[in-house]
Amino acid sequence: MESLVSNWFNAGTLPDSYVFPQQNRPGKLDFCIGKMIPVIDLQNHNRNTTIQKILDASQEYGIFQVINHGVPKELMDDTMKVMKKFHAMPLNDKARECSKDPKKSCKLYTSSEHYSAEQIHCWRDVLVHQCHPLEDYMQFWPDKPSTYKEVVGRFTVEARKMATRILELIDQGLGFSPGYLSDSEYSQKPILMVNHYPPCPDPCLTLGLPKHSDPSVITIVLQGNVPGLQVFKDGEWLVVEPLAHAFVINIGYVLQIISNGKLKGVEHRVVTNSSIARTTISMFIYPSDDSLIQPATALINARNPPLYRAFIYKEFRSKYLSAAADSKAVDEFIRQTTI
Ligand code: OGA
Ligand code: NI
Repeated sequence: MESLVSNWFNAGTLPDSYVFPQQNRPGKLDFCIGKMIPVIDLQNHNRNTTIQKILDASQEYGIFQVINHGVPKELMDDTMKVMKKFHAMPLNDKARECSKDPKKSCKLYTSSEHYSAEQIHCWRDVLVHQCHPLEDYMQFWPDKPSTYKEVVGRFTVEARKMATRILELIDQGLGFSPGYLSDSEYSQKPILMVNHYPPCPDPCLTLGLPKHSDPSVITIVLQGNVPGLQVFKDGEWLVVEPLAHAFVINIGYVLQIISNGKLKGVEHRVVTNSSIARTTISMFIYPSDDSLIQPATALINARNPPLYRAFIYKEFRSKYLSAAADSKAVDEFIRQTTI
């Protein structure tokens, strides 16, 4: 636990174990914000227009931002404040507050869950816990800061409602039966993850998170007002510009597979900065471990053969973790190989 970045980052120099290989370093940090990631207003009253915008953005970018999404702004601000306060607490308090469940439904770690096996560490601390149904998991959440359970409980309910709404729109857009993604085993396991990236002595040499695609159906991210999230598109890194009270929505591997490649997962990474801590709050929409993941039959026909094979979600998950999210290895695992 002493290895949490927030425990020692004031040391002043970047330890060698955080220096990424040359080809993965961010290098210069004046990135292109020119090409905008689409911003979609969910209050648009024409449902079909909204659906089309979501499909277009998911095909072209694999990522978009949503505004007027129904999650109260004050609740977003309060949740961000609680999370910042949590990560600012003394190490022992944080460790104690995250070790109440012997089954480890609430965890605190640094870099990745395999810290001791890593050659290079990422510049982040992570708080992660289950959040649905609340009554099963809330007892294991932190009691400090004192408002944690109350505020974060409301936030997870609202954020999940929004995720459900977006999945309903995607269900309709892809021609699935109602609830196919939005009310099924594909979306029964939302996880709340809080990434905390303290100020870093040398942001050119390291990353908060290296390039990866999420192993989720979709991920919704509240990134606050500090930039750091970047997506890889057409050979360059684009900054996902922080927009006040917006959520970033990105498409994960699972939706890419179920949609048979119609919607694309997006590769992204997180860069650090030297002046200000960045805290982000993500809800990953995961399938249940035993779900069968495969391209939806509604999208398969003679002209559109399945691009991916069928597998049980937990098999994919362990492959994803052991491949350290290496996209080539994961792609090989999910691709349909024709004999
Ligand atoms: C992730 C992720 C983005 C961020 O946790 O998978 O991509 O900005 N986070 O913290
Ligand atoms: Ni991610």
